[in-house]
Amino acid sequence: MKKPAPKESISDLWPGQSVSLLKALHILSQNGGLNADSRRKLKQVQHLAQLIRPAIDAALAEKEQPLLADLGAGKSYLGFILYDLYFGPAGRGRVVAVESRADLIAAARKIAAESGFDRMDFVQGTIAAAEIGPVDIVTALHACDTATDEAILFALRHDAKYVALVPCCQAEVARTLEDVKGPLAQLWRHPIQRREFGAHLTNVLRALYLEAHGYKVRVTELTGLEHSLKNEFIFAERHQKSNPRAKAEFEKLAAQTGAAPKLLTLPE
Ligand SMILES: C[S@@+](CC[C@H](N)C(=O)[O-])C[C@H]1O[C@@H](n2cnc3c(N)ncnc32)[C@H](O)[C@@H]1O
Repeated sequence: MKKPAPKESISDLWPGQSVSLLKALHILSQNGGLNADSRRKLKQVQHLAQLIRPAIDAALAEKEQPLLADLGAGKSYLGFILYDLYFGPAGRGRVVAVESRADLIAAARKIAAESGFDRMDFVQGTIAAAEIGPVDIVTALHACDTATDEAILFALRHDAKYVALVPCCQAEVARTLEDVKGPLAQLWRHPIQRREFGAHLTNVLRALYLEAHGYKVRVTELTGLEHSLKNEFIFAERHQKSNPRAKAEFEKLAAQTGAAPKLLTLPE
């Protein structure tokens, strides 16, 4: 006899979430179970889906076929769940996933075909090289290190109105700080503090960079379940072309600390 699905796995799903999709993604096991890792991933993606729902609703209200680009998509959990919850039921709007690993792209294409998600596309390559036409919403969940900076530049290049980022590990600025001396250097003297301060500084500069490019930025927590360094949710909505005050703040902070993400250099 087939084992019944553990009760708690069902209560973790949202109304309308496709069980067969979650099984295809290996978030749910074949008998409907959910292990600790997949529950954590599901919670993260559900939280993010909830936080960006207003942007998706607004984009659907503004355009007939809005496009959401999920960058550094990995197994495309986020893209699939956003399609399943929002774009599928709406009957319009597209999702494109950009991911450098060919094996993950091939597996995700197969799942999309089997699920009948015909308004999902998959692009294999780097975020930096991706050119996919006008994009309304950019998401990047745990895009490693400088891939989040690539996502910010992608959003600007594609004129995206909404940007939702949950940065991952950030090593670049911490490495730079190692050589920076001066009155603030005590803040990053010890390696663990340098890593944490470097990650914090990176995200502060990312938010200012987006502001400098005319976005209104909100920085909050994604979910209480994740390690705090990977739990910061940066949400940006563009409302003007540029913001000279934020540009000046970005430049001042980069000069005071002697460090800034290499990819994020402000135009003259
Ligand atoms: C930590 S995983 C996160 C995957 C997914 N967003 C999630 O949260 O489940 C980061 C993914 O980004 C991809 N990646 C890293 N740098 C990239 C880049 N520059 N361009 C495209 N993909 C990249 C990696 O191959 C990996 O699959």
